[in-house]
Amino acid sequence: MTAKKTAKKLLIANWKSNPATLEEAVVLAKKEDEAAALFKSVDLVVAPPFIFLEAVSEILKNSVLGAQDVFWEKSGPHTGEVSTDQLKNIGVQYVIVGHSEKRQDSGETDEMINKKIKGALAAGFRTVLCVGETSREDKEIPSSVGEQLVADVAGLKKDWLKNLIIAYEPVWAISTRLNSRPDTPSNVLQASLYIKKTLARTFGLKEANQIKVIYGGSVKTGNVASFLKDGGVSGALVGGASLNAEELIEIAKIANSQ
Ligand code: PGA
Repeated sequence: MTAKKTAKKLLIANWKSNPATLEEAVVLAKKEDEAAALFKSVDLVVAPPFIFLEAVSEILKNSVLGAQDVFWEKSGPHTGEVSTDQLKNIGVQYVIVGHSEKRQDSGETDEMINKKIKGALAAGFRTVLCVGETSREDKEIPSSVGEQLVADVAGLKKDWLKNLIIAYEPVWAISTRLNSRPDTPSNVLQASLYIKKTLARTFGLKEANQIKVIYGGSVKTGNVASFLKDGGVSGALVGGASLNAEELIEIAKIANSQ
């Protein structure tokens, strides 16, 4: 199955805990945002660390602001957390929830992720839920991916679903992992179909059809076309490659032509 040529591709630049300085963040955001103006068939989301959200928010004109995490409450006594109201008021439109690095580094559970998704969708954010297996023994998508997905989306209201995006991110394919390698387009197709079927079983086919599925894991200039063309996905979550503006621009150019 190939994505419809007319549909815009979603590209999310996940900077993770980079760069180290505000000056570098400003330069990177300017370059990426300028490039976004050139590619009309791509929606670019720039997701810097929290500390740079405000500065980057003032720069973006052709792309939109994303946050890498969110707390489920609007405000209140939650030391160290960043609330939905705070993110809204700074211009954030997309939030990433349940990234494997948050699951691992911060011990985020499916129960916490479910609360974050509900809080984010209730606040009106486009909400990107990351799911994916930590290792792959054989060609089958492990059932753990479906279990994660079902637990994370439990109890969502139907009218929230148009703002839900699932990022299939096999953890072993993330570029900074030891011995990582990108997944293959055929595995990504299998995974995206599996995710879409799981969503259809959970919410009904019509409702599930509103939910975009994207791919993340070592996406680069050399492989993005094949994922978009043959992986059955509507976009990509780009980590390492998004820290190099030239590479991200090239990825956007390729996505734009798919
Ligand atoms: P990567 O990261 O592109 O560096 O593999 C993707 C992600 O973890 O979101």
